[in-house]
This record gives sequence, C-alpha cells and structure tokens, in this order.
Amino acid sequence: MSDQNTRLAGESLDITQQRRVELKQLFPSAFTETCNDKGEVVESLDFERLKAELGELTDIYDNRRERYGMDWPGKRNCLRLIQQPSTATLKPCREESVDFDTTENLFIEGDNLEVLKLLQKGYYGSVKMIYIDPPYNTGKEFIYPDNFSESLDTYLQYAGLKDSEGRNFSTNSANEGRFHTKWLNMMYPRLYLARNLLREDGVIFISIDDNEVENLRRICDEIFGEENFVAQFIWEKRTNRENRKIVSTRHDYILCYSRNAWESDRPISQLPMNEKALASYKNPDNDFRGLWKSDPATAQAGHGTKSQFYDLVAPNGKIHQLESGRCWLYTEKSMNQAIEENRIWFGKDGNGVPRIKTYLKAKDRRLTPETIFFAEEVGTTEVAKNKIKELFDGIAAFETPKPVQLLQTLLKLSANPGVVVDFFSGSGSLGEAVYRENLTGSSTRFVLIQLPSLVKREVKRKK
Ligand SMILES: C[S@@+](CC[C@H](N)C(=O)[O-])C[C@H]1O[C@@H](n2cnc3c(N)ncnc32)[C@H](O)[C@@H]1O
Repeated sequence: MSDQNTRLAGESLDITQQRRVELKQLFPSAFTETCNDKGEVVESLDFERLKAELGELTDIYDNRRERYGMDWPGKRNCLRLIQQPSTATLKPCREESVDFDTTENLFIEGDNLEVLKLLQKGYYGSVKMIYIDPPYNTGKEFIYPDNFSESLDTYLQYAGLKDSEGRNFSTNSANEGRFHTKWLNMMYPRLYLARNLLREDGVIFISIDDNEVENLRRICDEIFGEENFVAQFIWEKRTNRENRKIVSTRHDYILCYSRNAWESDRPISQLPMNEKALASYKNPDNDFRGLWKSDPATAQAGHGTKSQFYDLVAPNGKIHQLESGRCWLYTEKSMNQAIEENRIWFGKDGNGVPRIKTYLKAKDRRLTPETIFFAEEVGTTEVAKNKIKELFDGIAAFETPKPVQLLQTLLKLSANPGVVVDFFSGSGSLGEAVYRENLTGSSTRFVLIQLPSLVKREVKRKK
C-alpha cells in the first residue's frame, strides 16, 4: 500500500472512530460491552437502545433479556417517562418574590421530574453545575411515586422470586429489591434529564450514603459515561461517635461526574489556598524569595533516569545516600545548582535530610482537590442544623440540611461563573452558598427546585 493509501486508510479509520466518540458523547448509555467471535470483550453500540433513546421503543428492546448492564424492574418505563412530555406549567409568584423583574435566580416549587422536563428547552446545555442531595433510601424517607408503579407481584415475577405456584422464596430479599427498585426508578429519569441541562464543561455532584452509593455509581456510569467519572468524594459529616451497635458512620459520599471529559483535562478547578495550607509556608532562613515549605527531594526509583542516582554532598560536606527504591528528583548537576542558590533545605543545623523548597510566590499557588472534605473545613450536619435553628428561633425547622461551607467548596470547584441547579433543594442551602460566593466576586445564578412542603406551624422566620 502506498503512503497515500496508508494515510487515507488511517484517516477514514479515524473518522469512524471520531464518529463513535461523538455518538458516545451524545448517547453514552447506548454503548455497552459484548463478546466478539473470539470471546474478547469489546465495546459495542446497542442499536435497540439507541433507537429507544430516539423515541423508537421497539419490541426487540422490550422483550430482550440477557445483556451486560444494570437492569431492574421498571427501567424500560423510565425511558418512556423521560420521553413523555410534561403537562405542567410554571406559574410566576410575584407576590412571594424579591426583585422579581431583575433577579436571575429562581426558586421553583414542584415535582422535580416535571420541572426538569420544563427546563429542558430553556436550560438545555447551559448549566455549569448541578448539586443534588436526593433521598438516600434509608427506608425512612418517602420516595415520591411517578406516573407508573410496579406491584409487589409484578416485581416478584420479574425478580424470579416467586415460583410457579406463586409462593415467595424470600420475602426479605424481595422487599429489599423492591426497595432499591423504587429508588432507582425515581432517580434514573431525573438524572437523565439533568445531564441534558449540563454545559459541555459542566459537572454534577450528588450526595449519597452507603445505602445506594453502589447503585448510584452504576446508573451514573450508564447515564454520564464511565469516562466522565471524576471522583467519589468523602465528606466527614460528623466528628462525634454515634452510639451504634456495630459501626458509627462518620461520612457521606459526594459523587462527581462531568458532562464531557473530553472538553477539558480539568473538569473541576483547583481550590484557592486555605489557611491550613498557607500555614505550612514559612521562612526560617530569611530566603529573599519569601515564604516557602519543604517537599521531599526524592521520588520512586522507577521514575528516575541514571543521572538521578548519586551521593548528594551537602554544603557542610555531609554525604547523603539514597534510600533503597528512591532516586533524587533532580540530576546531580541541577541539584548542585539548587544547593548553590539556597533552594535546598538541610534543616536548621544543616545536617537534615535534603528537601526541596517550594515557594508560595512561585506561581498562583492553588490546591489540587483531594477526595476527602474534612469537617473542620466544610462543616458537619450538626453545624448545618444549628444554622437552621438560629434562623428559626431554636426550632429544627428542617432536618437534613447540608452545611453552606460544603456547598461553597463545590461551587469553588465547579461554577465560576455560571448557572447552578439543585433539584432536591430542601432548605435552599445551595442558594445561600451561591449568595456567599457572589460576595467574593463570583457571578453565579441559581435555580432551586423543591416539592412544596410545610415547616412546622409554630415556626416563625426571624425578620
Ligand atoms: C435531603 S433533602 C435536601 C437537603 C438540602 N440539600 C439542604 O441542604 O437543605 C431532599 C429534599 O428533596 C425533596 N424532594 C424529594 N422528592 C422530590 C421531588 N420529587 N421533587 C422535588 N423535591 C423533592 C424533599 O422534600 C427534601 O426536602
């Protein structure tokens, strides 16, 4: 084959690949895993699912059984529900609003499924960040029923938990399955519609705990695409030990997915330096370059080239040998130059293990986000509840608020500037977080959605 032919063949292959990538960006859930003739697992396009996504629900799609992916009773109906247009309308409430004509923030009362459908037109592809804190499915919350419902009987048949004479094999597991099913049927259409609202560089954060984190991750992998998974953050929600029989749970999770991982290599931003990080910068040797902190001068040996293995001679003549399995970060020549320029720290007495000085001023230093949000930095459930009590004369008017600081951190990671949405908004904490962030120069706007629910009668809001 000539060069040109090779190139042409290469180009046409790339175009096919490019089309697949584009299609996958539009319909991540239409891609699945199958086995090829050689028994190898390959990614393949699920045409029936693609048709179903485009509104053509075929018999084949309805009747098929075995395939890789996550299924549960009612999933097919979720797709129907997504495509069913809403018959609701949004009614403005001028008398309950503040600055109705000028504010760009919205608080919408209603079922979020209906509202998400209504927002599809006006907000399609325009939301920078979505945060949701849905019911965790602890068994205590009411899961709002959508248009369809599955009876326990139907469920038992689906799950194969009823024999031909109609006897239950195991009531417990049946109940438990039904329990997850109901929650999944509630979440799936909402997440699906939520994804449509996100900008290409948008992200979604979802609070959850151990009850559903696994299922949530699986449906998010399907809806957003596995490659758009950003992180499973841990939030330290309490600092005191609960009096529990087995284990006292100290954390919740916050799952984060991006709309389109290809859009940027950094779907969430770095964070500004906080006080704790700043406190580690000092200047014990009056370095003219200003505040610095020391970092290790070695790396794993596997990362090094030959020139990074040597005995390092300190200014006082002391010889520092490498620990086994390590190499120096700099070559000998660069290290000696750094020592000459006083950019290597050997401790106060000059005998310490060499460390590299990292200067605060070196660039606009920012912090790479870590997977744990500690209570001392972002607050706990208790902190959030106490804030609500302060607003409502000591009454716990809302039981499950999230701390505003936690939400401010999520905004810093994702939303400056842009529209943010919370469609399980509860006490409206994301609205307060946006307000506080905007005081420091952001120009974020919010859309909050919440089922109308009354706070206790005796509760009067402080003026
Ligand atoms: C855990 S709370 C959210 C708390 C919120 N993050 C905060 O900081 O205050 C979940 C909220 O979602 C609301 N909710 C549940 N189902 C809903 C639905 N279908 N549409 C709108 N809101 C819903 C509940 O009424 C509840 O207030």
